[in-house]
Amino acid sequence: MSNLNHETVLSVHHWTDTLFSFTTTRDPAFRFENGQFAMIGLEIDGKPLLRAYSMVSPNFEETLEFLSIKVPDGPLTSRLRNVKEGDTVLVGQKATGTLLLHNLLPGRILYLLGTGTGLAPFMSIIRDPRVYERFEKVVLVHGCRLVDELAYSERIREEFPRHDYFGELIAEKLLYYPTVTRQPHRNRGRITELLQSDKIGADLSIPPLDADKDRVMLCGSPQFLFDMRELMEGMGMQEGNQTKPGEYVIEKAFVER
Ligand code: A2P
Repeated sequence: MSNLNHETVLSVHHWTDTLFSFTTTRDPAFRFENGQFAMIGLEIDGKPLLRAYSMVSPNFEETLEFLSIKVPDGPLTSRLRNVKEGDTVLVGQKATGTLLLHNLLPGRILYLLGTGTGLAPFMSIIRDPRVYERFEKVVLVHGCRLVDELAYSERIREEFPRHDYFGELIAEKLLYYPTVTRQPHRNRGRITELLQSDKIGADLSIPPLDADKDRVMLCGSPQFLFDMRELMEGMGMQEGNQTKPGEYVIEKAFVER
């Protein structure tokens, strides 16, 4: 397990019966770009059991934060959900991922679209000042079934705009659009439908998604990613990668989960 750091859990927050987050210590040598993920897990019967987890915390913070679902019979999450302050969590030493600014062409508005725990990588990206240098506005859309699953919504709205380092940028340029599908809420509906009907643009008073001008990052359930890819390819947008930046990028690690 030489490629794994042993980190100590500092705090745990249970959002719902199916969703929790936790913070850990961070090995100073562990480097990552905002939007990336690492392999995280626990030692079970002497062996590491790991899954891909995006860093919620931005790369300039001294601690790490992760957001996780609780799968009742999930080999890892059924155990990880019980971690407590002081417990040890394994963190892979190499971070990777496709949700990177340099995989996207320059543009006007950056859309960060996530369902469920797909919010996680965007939590670090929205705290990256470079994002706001590259785009006029950043639109964070988080789609969940239930209101309580809108993790971090209070921090995004209340705490982040007042932050010493990135607060002004967030207050000026970040538009946060939480939406819920199975409960009453001021924003209701699936992200795919809200984009197609331009409800998001209308509610936020911004122009409709424009394939030539705007850029998109996606993270969420496989079916969401599939449907969004079809929608964007249909608009003439192309997926970007390290060698050829494009109009959108998808976090594929989630597809394999
Ligand atoms: P819905 O309640 O209509 O299924 P999940 O918890 O299943 O990952 O879903 C998280 C959110 O993503 C829910 O609001 C869900 O809506 C939505 N969702 C699921 N599949 C899609 C899809 N193919 N396109 C858009 N949104 C989706």
